[in-house]
Amino acid sequence: MKKLYIETLGCAMNVRDSEHIIAELTQKEDYQLTQNLKEADLIVINTCSVREKPVHKLFSEIGYFNKVKKPQAKIGVCGCTASHLGEEIIKKAPYVSFVLGARNVSKITQVIKKEKAVEVDIDYDESTYAFSEFRSSVYKAFINISIGCDKKCTFCIVPNTRGEEISIPPELIVQEAKKAAKSGAKEIFLLGQNVNNYGRRFSDGKRDIDFTDLLKMISEIEEVKRIRFTSPHPLHMDDRFLEEFASNPKICKSMHMPLQSGSSAILRRMKRGYTKEWFLDRAMKLRQMVPDVHISTDIIVGFPGESEEDFAHTLDVVQKVGFEQIFSFKYSPRPLTPAAEYKDQVDSEVASRRLTRLQELHMQMLDEMSQKKRGKIYEVYFEELKPGGYVAGRSDNNQIVKVKGSEELLGKLANVRIIKPGRLALEGELV
Ligand code: SAH
Ligand code: F3S
Repeated sequence: MKKLYIETLGCAMNVRDSEHIIAELTQKEDYQLTQNLKEADLIVINTCSVREKPVHKLFSEIGYFNKVKKPQAKIGVCGCTASHLGEEIIKKAPYVSFVLGARNVSKITQVIKKEKAVEVDIDYDESTYAFSEFRSSVYKAFINISIGCDKKCTFCIVPNTRGEEISIPPELIVQEAKKAAKSGAKEIFLLGQNVNNYGRRFSDGKRDIDFTDLLKMISEIEEVKRIRFTSPHPLHMDDRFLEEFASNPKICKSMHMPLQSGSSAILRRMKRGYTKEWFLDRAMKLRQMVPDVHISTDIIVGFPGESEEDFAHTLDVVQKVGFEQIFSFKYSPRPLTPAAEYKDQVDSEVASRRLTRLQELHMQMLDEMSQKKRGKIYEVYFEELKPGGYVAGRSDNNQIVKVKGSEELLGKLANVRIIKPGRLALEGELV
């Protein structure tokens, strides 16, 4: 048997793509997973290209792989940077054996057999491809509901690496969810670049279905106890969706609402399709409907043309919404995106200072917010053993909670009272 080593960078969709790669190679080919790079016959790196940093990381990483690998071992580059750089990767790093784009994962069994194969077609449609099955967690199952993205946010390279948006037929999603749930995954995690745009386009004809309908269908599966999803787009958070989110007990009460900027002028330049007011209206409505909801967000600082006043609007939204988690990034100009061509790029130092201010404000807010959690009771789904005799899992509203305990808690849902709140993780006791 040959050994496969795989490293995954980037988002949850990449994690799922890696599971598909593992499944295809271990079930249709003669591979077995290894954690030891030095004994691998095939080394795969699944890349991200959303910011410039991970792209740099790719070349240093494969350089290292090349140094320590067995002489005959192959290196394959997959994912968004593979889509975006294609052949250039092999030109720059001739020891790479194949390049496989984010939308060509199903061709993994072909590219391993061809020397210097480059498969990066972003029009390739694998929305109905029957992948073999591999899951890295027995407790939760990632399920793709769409591929690609139809939005053209002016900062984002993803539409150029994952192509046009195609929804996966609901029958296939439900079938996959049933199978995963029957084999023990109580939690289903639905994935797409823009999940609440679900139903927009199918490759095998039209259907009258949207994301809210899909959520209802999945929650009818008895063995499914929890449903999560990422990422929804604030623009498509209509009342019907929010009402389903609030009232369906199987839907976990955490919502990712990628803000990007609090300034309506910047949002317009980003082509996000909503204003500051719309975002605040949706977030406030959500808090009012689900008081214990956990709202996370993505924010970009230093987008071209962002003035101090624009940035003040971002801080204002942060203050008003009180996000439980913020993924904040300095704007990174990406090739193939309109914003990279804008003439009014923000000075890097200015952007760095804004990023620090944003993060400091958020840390202060988190300290206050976390104190309020003392004594609260959350339902936790236990998934992981932790050092010091702890077992950890996530609460319904997506907070990491640990309690003293052992294996028998794994895979179980239980109520926990918080005794020690922290910024990132909470400690509690079973009630
Ligand atoms: N639709 C996806 C977005 C993928 S990119 C989703 O909702 O998850 C993930 C995040 O990276 C974006 O929300 C954005 O905040 C950030 N990002 C994307 N392009 C960027 C760029 N050029 N510079 C900095 N951050 C960026
Ligand atoms: Fe990117 Fe905007 Fe789509 S952030 S993935 S173009 S929704």
